[in-house]
Amino acid sequence: MNQLPKIGIAGTGSYVPERVFTNHDFKGIETSDEWIRERTGIRERRYARADEASSHMAVEAAKRAMESAGVAPEEIDLIVVGTVTPDNAFPSTACHLQHALGCARAAAFDVSAACTGFIYSLSVGWSMARAMGYRNVLVVGVEKLSSIINMEDRTSCILFGDGAGAAVLRPMPEGPSEILFSSLHSMGGHEDVMSLPAGGTRMLPTHETIDQKKHFIHIKGREVFKFAVTKMVEMVELAAAKVGVPVSKISTIIPHQVNLRIIEYAAEKLNYPLERMMINIERYGNTSAASVPIALDEAVKSGRVKRGDLVVMVAFGAGLTWGGIALKY
Ligand SMILES: CC(C)(COP(=O)(O)OP(=O)(O)OC[C@H]1O[C@@H](n2cnc3c(N)ncnc32)[C@H](O)[C@@H]1OP(=O)(O)O)[C@@H](O)C(=O)NCCC(=O)NCCS
Repeated sequence: MNQLPKIGIAGTGSYVPERVFTNHDFKGIETSDEWIRERTGIRERRYARADEASSHMAVEAAKRAMESAGVAPEEIDLIVVGTVTPDNAFPSTACHLQHALGCARAAAFDVSAACTGFIYSLSVGWSMARAMGYRNVLVVGVEKLSSIINMEDRTSCILFGDGAGAAVLRPMPEGPSEILFSSLHSMGGHEDVMSLPAGGTRMLPTHETIDQKKHFIHIKGREVFKFAVTKMVEMVELAAAKVGVPVSKISTIIPHQVNLRIIEYAAEKLNYPLERMMINIERYGNTSAASVPIALDEAVKSGRVKRGDLVVMVAFGAGLTWGGIALKY
């Protein structure tokens, strides 16, 4: 039987928009910098310009990832983009990205799994590289959440930011790098917990839906909290077991940047040192599908994650969806 090729991450990149929006900048809602920092760990987030679409941010992150992987646009065979804030319903953000980058040979499509979008996209890219022979696979997580937040809803608007993160996958027969394990899950029927109610075929856009602010994120944060801690712990434990090591042997855990307290609770339950959890939520807030790849890129570029390190990435979000990936970087 043919052995499936060993696929690793050849390079990473990320991009966040220039505009910094601090906790002090929220106007017209009853909140404070102190409340937001204590309850979420967030100090500031980035918001894209009005003329800056998701694909524009994705281009910047992708260029950086391709440069660090030493891959030219014409060498990219496949582009997978995780996003819930696409440029258009169609064409896909991946197609916009393909055109902007000049990846003329690449197949391109989007994946919709909310905050688990990058974990899903990376798993799809990995599987297609292994099973279908796509050689250079560009995987991106990107969101322009500022376009779907209700700035009058203090329970949700403070949480989210914009950005993009990317990784290039390719066969890496030499060296330690290899994606080792992926596990993806979903539990539909929870749109009351997190959803964007209008604009799709369930609730067509009308003047009324706009007046009722149904084109914005609706979440029940408290309900997400428990789910997020439980799934983060479950996924890390499963990944460690599948790789055949105790959790303490994972060099770095890269969790979805959802809330510092959620990450702290999970670290405590896992008996895992918080210093080895990659955390950058204070600067970017929750960027949904972009959160894990931005954190991965920052961990790599800062030298926290080195070649051969065992890394576990874990995320959860609307759907509900959740998933984890273990890899040797
Ligand atoms: C949203 C979240 C920060 C709220 O924190 P929490 O500790 O659960 O706070 P609660 O929802 O219990 O609210 C506590 C009080 O603070 C108030 N409050 C909520 N947002 C506030 C804000 N921005 N500023 C000040 N007070 C706020 C609430 O109204 C509530 O007041 P009450 O006690 O008078 O009813 C937290 O639940 C969370 O991070 N959840 C997950 C985030 C998420 O869903 N992400 C998207 C999916 S990945």
